[in-house]
Amino acid sequence: MIVTIDGPAGSGKSTTARAAADRLGFVYLDTGAMYRAIALAFIRRDAEGTPDEARAILPDVRVDIRYRDNDMRVVLDGEDVSGTIRTAEVGNMASQISALQSVREKLLDTQRRVGREQAEKHGGVVLDGRDTGTVVFPDADVKIFMVADARERARRRLEEYQKQGEDVTFESVLREIEERDEADRTREIAPLKRADDAVELDTTSRSIDEQVGFVVNCVKAELAQS
Ligand code: DC
Repeated sequence: MIVTIDGPAGSGKSTTARAAADRLGFVYLDTGAMYRAIALAFIRRDAEGTPDEARAILPDVRVDIRYRDNDMRVVLDGEDVSGTIRTAEVGNMASQISALQSVREKLLDTQRRVGREQAEKHGGVVLDGRDTGTVVFPDADVKIFMVADARERARRRLEEYQKQGEDVTFESVLREIEERDEADRTREIAPLKRADDAVELDTTSRSIDEQVGFVVNCVKAELAQS
């Protein structure tokens, strides 16, 4: 069973996808973490995120996914960077380089291979990202598209940043969210959009428990049918 959850930054995808995977006995695959790992490789080389730089950098960069007790880790050139990639700087660079065809091509095969392998091994996988239901797995069994009001998403992101000790204001996070939405929606390749057969879930005033319950119920309904 392949379950995809796409949506804009801060809509609650990752928390919901991880918890739903846990409740279903599936594993979670965070595709954004892979873009963030490549972004970190750019930042470490003082690159700005241009197509020319990508041509020079990408052949030397390796992004792998490993699972430790079903916990997904993203590995950049042999180093576990799962924690290092959770900063605003990496997120912004990830948004920029994810518009490059060469970057998307590099990650697509790994996303499909790991997704299929894990679904086979555990009975199912829950992916989250921007294009997992449109490009990575257009034939996914269950597709969810999560949305939420931008101010609510900014509030959630701010809380995450503050937990990590990052010094940011609500206004700067809101601006970052709005700019990121615009960039992700309007890019030419694999833009953020709802797949025709995805179910929309507005999380603005829903609790995490309700969101997870919604996804789990969609999967159970699908399982009952098949
Ligand atoms: O979900 P996130 O914030 O960790 O993702 C970081 C960036 O990666 C996001 O701005 C867009 C990009 N991304 C993408 O283009 N396609 C995906 N499937 C996942 C993320």
